[in-house]
Amino acid sequence: MSDKEILMEVKDLVTRFYTEDGVVKALEGVTFSLYKGETLALVGETGCGKSVTALSILRLLGMSGKTLKGEVLFYDEESKKRLGMTGKGPIEILKLESKQMLKIRGFGMSMITQDPMTSLNPVYTVGEQLLEVIELHKGMSGDEAKKEALRLIEDVELTPPEEIFKKYPHQLSGGQRQRIVISISLAAEPALIFADEPTTALDVTIQARVLELMQELKEKFQTSLILITHNLGIVAETSDRICVMYAGRVVEVADKFTLFKRPLHPYSQGLIAAVPVVTEKRDRLSYIGGTVPNLIHPPSGCRFHPRCPYATDICKEKMPELKPVETEDHLVECWHMDEVLKDLEEKGGVC
Ligand SMILES: Nc1ncnc2c1ncn2[C@@H]1O[C@H](COP(=O)(O)OP(=O)(O)OP(=O)(O)O)[C@@H](O)[C@H]1O
Ligand code: SF4
Ligand SMILES: [Mg+2]
Repeated sequence: MSDKEILMEVKDLVTRFYTEDGVVKALEGVTFSLYKGETLALVGETGCGKSVTALSILRLLGMSGKTLKGEVLFYDEESKKRLGMTGKGPIEILKLESKQMLKIRGFGMSMITQDPMTSLNPVYTVGEQLLEVIELHKGMSGDEAKKEALRLIEDVELTPPEEIFKKYPHQLSGGQRQRIVISISLAAEPALIFADEPTTALDVTIQARVLELMQELKEKFQTSLILITHNLGIVAETSDRICVMYAGRVVEVADKFTLFKRPLHPYSQGLIAAVPVVTEKRDRLSYIGGTVPNLIHPPSGCRFHPRCPYATDICKEKMPELKPVETEDHLVECWHMDEVLKDLEEKGGVC
C-alpha cells in the first residue's frame, strides 16, 4: 500500500474525559495513516477507543472530552480549496477554528453512526434534510438541488424517490433510515467517511445489502472509509487494512490478509483466534483471558501486560512503540516480537 497516496495522518493523539470518578485516559498516543480510497477497519474489544478516535478527529468529544496532544493531518486538496486555504501542506484539523471545522465536517469528512435517529432530525422530512446539506455544501438551489436529492435517494436504492423525499424519519424503517443517513453523508461528496457500527442496529437480512451499498458508493465517489466494528466477519468482507486497538492504543496495523493469517501482537492473536471457524472442529473457543482495563487507572507500560502470556518487567515499565515487523507495512508494538515470532515458527508460521 505504501505507493498509494495518503489522505490522513493521525499522530500521537492523546484524549481524556474528565468525569466525577476521575480522568478517563481514553486515547494514549493513537497513531495511524489512511490512504486515499481505502477502507480501514478499527477493531478491538468494547471500550478500546474506536469511537473516541473518530470523535477526536472530528472534534465532537462533547463538554467532558479533550484532546490534549497530537496531530491530524488531512491531505485533501478539495477541502483546502473550499476552506480558501492557499499554500502547501495538509490541513491541520486540530488547529482549525470552530467555523472551519463545521465546514470540514460537511465536505471533508462525515460520520455514519449505529443509530440513524441520532443523525436525523425528527421534525424535518428526509428531503428537507438532504436539501440543507446540498445547498450548504454544493451551492445548489431550487430544482437543481431537488434533482440532486432525488438522485441521492435513488443511489441508496430507496423507491420511489419522490415519495421518500416527503417522508419524516419516523415513517421509515431502520434500514431505510440508515440508507438516508448514508445518502446525507455522501451528499457533499466528502473525502472521508467514518462508519461507526453502521449496521449493528439493522436486521441481519438487510445488513449485508447496506454494507454492499456503502462499498459501491465508496467506489463511485472515491471516498475513504474508516469502518468501526466488532464484527470481524464484516471486516474480512469489506476492509483493505486493519488497525487493532487495545485500551486506547493502536497495537497492530496490517493489510487484512496478513492480519487474519499472521497476526503478530499477542492481543491481535487472541482476537483472531476467538473468531469461530465453522470448518474447524475446536474443543472450545479460544479467548483472551482477563478483561479490558478501567481507563481511569490503566496498567502501566504496555496496557496489555496484565493479560499477556509474554509479559515481563519491561512490559510493566515502558510502553512499546509501533514498529515495522517483517514488512514495512506491518506495524506492531511489542517488546517481545522475537519470542512471538519464534513461537509462530514452531506452530508452522500461522496463528
Ligand atoms: N463521554 C465519555 N465520558 C467518559 N468516558 C468516555 C466517554 N466516551 C468514551 N469514554 C471512555 O473512553 C474509552 C473508549 O471508549 P470508546 O467509546 O471509544 O470505545 P469503543 O472502542 O468505541 O467501544 P464499543 O465497541 O463499545 O463502542 C472507554 O473507557 C469509555 O468508557
Ligand atoms: S509489550 Fe509485553 S505485554 Fe505488551 S504485548 Fe508485547 S509482550 Fe505482551
Ligand atoms: Mg464505539
